[in-house]
Amino acid sequence: MITNRITNAFATQFDTSDPLVVRSPGRVNIIGEHTDYNEGFVLPAAIDKAIYVAVTKRDDEKLHLHSVDFNQNYVVALTDIQPTDSWATYILGVADQLIKRGHSIGGFNLALDGDVPIGAGLSSSAAVECATVFALNELFALSIDKMEMVRIAQKAEHTFAGVMCGIMDQFASMFGKKDYVIKLDCRSLEYEYVPLKLQGYKVVLLNTNVKHSLSSSEYNTRRQECEQGVAWVKEHHPDVKSLRDVTLEMLNQHVATKDQIVYRRCKYVVKENERLLKGCEELQQGNIKALGERMFQTHEGLSKDYEVSCKELDILVEAVKDNADVLGARMMGGGFGGCTINLVKEEAIEALIEKLAKVYKEATGLELTAYVAQIENGTETVTQKEYSHV
Ligand code: GLA
Repeated sequence: MITNRITNAFATQFDTSDPLVVRSPGRVNIIGEHTDYNEGFVLPAAIDKAIYVAVTKRDDEKLHLHSVDFNQNYVVALTDIQPTDSWATYILGVADQLIKRGHSIGGFNLALDGDVPIGAGLSSSAAVECATVFALNELFALSIDKMEMVRIAQKAEHTFAGVMCGIMDQFASMFGKKDYVIKLDCRSLEYEYVPLKLQGYKVVLLNTNVKHSLSSSEYNTRRQECEQGVAWVKEHHPDVKSLRDVTLEMLNQHVATKDQIVYRRCKYVVKENERLLKGCEELQQGNIKALGERMFQTHEGLSKDYEVSCKELDILVEAVKDNADVLGARMMGGGFGGCTINLVKEEAIEALIEKLAKVYKEATGLELTAYVAQIENGTETVTQKEYSHV
């Protein structure tokens, strides 16, 4: 359906047909939050909500961009690309990276559409970046491999959106595989696909429908706090390169004495890496009850020690804590709004959503939106035509 909508919008806007259409999904993360930029582990998966881009080459050196959702256009010369505060910035950031890395691209038309809710912590921006880099790679026959495309997409987020994100979102969007989660080592970038077998439980996302404005500045601050902790440990252990190499004992000795906030941030990350490794084993052994309990612990850490949660997220996690149909729940992604991720017994989903919507509305005055996430493939071409050498 979105494929039809985007190709129709493309034809109307650009008066040319047969664009190359690429789909790139949003993501969930089962456990392992704020660990990626600390060279730890994450356990994400691509979902059935995705961003689509439709592209064709132009004869001039211009970018003509159109957002179906916003019904807006953005036009710029290739030589004049700058960050903007609109949806276009993620596309421009990718084009800028390609040019800076010496890839030869020309002008292009691009239409953008999709159904990943914006600001919900499902990585719509990473999905736009991955869709764009994948489409341009194909359109201009650049022969960039997937891992390099992930790095380009991540760098676009750093330079044009100003968020110093880790690699998880772009990686999950690009490398997702239907019905599998990806255990990614963010230091070596080695990864393993682990089947997501939930035995009658489903991944349910509960969207708070808030995104507090702190999210990107606080995100960057957390990164610096972690770096500060590493620097203090390093004075005594020169081999330490990141929180991946740090133990609780080291933190107690060298960080707790210096700054309690930095200590709590680092402690959360060190414990979260441990939780992920154990949680992943539990998933592989089919012990999803234990994995669920760890998700609750992760939330506790994110809320109390890492302090990236918010009232709305805490309310939603608290509301399911003693519910026998919910094995685990926690805030997901960067924080300060967006979704909680919940493992919920299939038969209980409908009633639970109904009940929570009421609780949430009473407590916050806000609407709750719920999605049952299916795990899907990563970035891929939707249309069959061979575009590379057109
Ligand atoms: C955001 C970032 C990711 C990751 C998560 C937190 O989604 O883009 O790189 O750091 O927050 O785990």
